[in-house]
Amino acid sequence: MAKQIATNVTWQDGEVSREDRYQILRQKGATVWFTGLSGSGKSTVAVALEKALFRMGKLSYRLDGDNVRLGINKNLGFSEGDRKENIRRIGEIAKLFGDAGTISLSSFISPYKADRDEVRALHDAAGLQFVEVYVDCTLAVAEERDPKGLYKKARAGEIRNFTGIDDPYEAPGNPEIHLRTDEMTVEEEVAIIIDYLAKNGVIQTELFTRADDQIDGSVAAL
Ligand code: ADX
Repeated sequence: MAKQIATNVTWQDGEVSREDRYQILRQKGATVWFTGLSGSGKSTVAVALEKALFRMGKLSYRLDGDNVRLGINKNLGFSEGDRKENIRRIGEIAKLFGDAGTISLSSFISPYKADRDEVRALHDAAGLQFVEVYVDCTLAVAEERDPKGLYKKARAGEIRNFTGIDDPYEAPGNPEIHLRTDEMTVEEEVAIIIDYLAKNGVIQTELFTRADDQIDGSVAAL
């Protein structure tokens, strides 16, 4: 856990609550946390899920490894300490997004179990749902996909500390959702996550029916 350095700081509450925000958005904030090897499909599933949620009128926002490393985390590399700080910052950002009412879709290798568990604890303490999604495929498949050509470079010794090659990946022991991207389609994977979010009250998927929504005898979906 990162140490609190500043002293004499206290949390300031406003007059609009988290529940008020959730009501405006008609959804709850939550964090869907994708973890897995580079090339396992984290970003692909997140992009498809974002689109599916958008079509349902649900607000989500992708926090993606490469994007975040081009911005707020541009001063971090891939040492164990930097990866830890990368995940800690994203965890805090995801928590803020959840409090704001957004479903954040966080795709980071996040190779260390302890770092992911800290993000989970942060969410638990804040009363926010944390959905760990293990985006699983064999190293052989990830390496064969090699969408950015990085495995090739890592094998050639041009990139050091590359996850799966000369750096570890600790698989989740008990994730909320386990996807086998070398066996399932993206559509199937998205459906599993949406089903989970609906069953756990983050989103509502059923149609609302109200008497004044009757148009020519048919029911308008809100
Ligand atoms: S994490 O380990 O700190 O969670 P993160 O998901 O942010 O990693 O970034 C991983 C992405 O950075 C990979 O998809 C890849 O494009 C790129 N990358 C560059 N160098 C490395 C490396 N040494 N190990 C893993 N990924 C790397």
